Amino acid sequence: MFKKLLKWSSEQHSHLPWRENRSLYLTLVSEIMLQQTTVQTVVNHIDRFLKKYPTLQSLAQSNEEEVCIAWKGLGYYRRARNLLSAAQDIQLNYDGKIPTDIDTLKSIKGIGEYTANAIIAIGAGKRALAVDANLERVIARIYAIDIEKGVKLQKEIYKRFHSGQILKELTDNNSRELNEAFMDLGRVICQARKVECILCPVKKNCLSFERGLVDTIPKVVEKKKEKHELDLLRVIVRKRGKILGYTKSDKEWLQGQVELPTFILKSTDKEIKQYPNAPKVISIETSSLPKIKSSITKYKITNYILEIKEKDFKGTFREDKRYHFVKEDVDSINFTSTVIKILKK
Ligand code: ADE
Repeated sequence: MFKKLLKWSSEQHSHLPWRENRSLYLTLVSEIMLQQTTVQTVVNHIDRFLKKYPTLQSLAQSNEEEVCIAWKGLGYYRRARNLLSAAQDIQLNYDGKIPTDIDTLKSIKGIGEYTANAIIAIGAGKRALAVDANLERVIARIYAIDIEKGVKLQKEIYKRFHSGQILKELTDNNSRELNEAFMDLGRVICQARKVECILCPVKKNCLSFERGLVDTIPKVVEKKKEKHELDLLRVIVRKRGKILGYTKSDKEWLQGQVELPTFILKSTDKEIKQYPNAPKVISIETSSLPKIKSSITKYKITNYILEIKEKDFKGTFREDKRYHFVKEDVDSINFTSTVIKILKK
């Protein structure tokens, strides 16, 4: 049933760097990188990361700061910390050898359902299904599973897979290639809002295609997200080639990254607690300040940039114990992407 799909995938997509050599470690790294990130971004960054951390041992011996620097460009730094936790757990408790059974894998801090199944299917080449967003959509369409996109649909796919209702063709012999081929299909042909059934190597076996349901499966219920405006004051204080900054804590956005002293000027969300309010004693004329736009979660942010001297900063703004001067070097300091934009401006 999936012969054409496997042929198409191996002809078009076997050049991806994590497919050229296989190891459990490479799968662990690449699969964590590929979550929430495009294939092209991972292609652009994975070699540099592996040069710095060629083995699980080398990664386990590192620390969060170093790993986050090597993660630069991949975003969502929580994943870098998860990867480090997983490597350290495996080094300490499994003699540095990545386990390949589902329950052990899922018990490791930093490895969830998807990564565990990807390690088994793609790394170890054993029968498993790594249900990411692409697989979820592709499998739902092929078998016309009419359930709303999300956890419920993923659970149903796993249930049907483990009970042998679907994907009986997936065996130890083709688990790696078939999982990857489904991912390729979802990324290239069977996309969420753009479907090219004419080109699809499984169209003959796709129930949604046969029944004209491709545009309605999987059902997607758009959640109305509340949007908020947020004006921030970003303060630049320079001293002898260094700049004042602080490392964001686990409870804040962009944990582990380095931020400029930042204050809330105004927001349509009165509950926001990510930054302190700008002191009331100063009335800052923002219209004359340079500004850049950014966004995070539900906030549309206008960042106003104010450069002042250290003594003026101390006299005006609330100090934070975390503030310290860091090298103004975007390659060695893990600045947030907004700070990098500000420094380049
Ligand atoms: N997305 C997640 N894992 C992937 C893989 N191994 N190849 C291509 N895309 C992916």
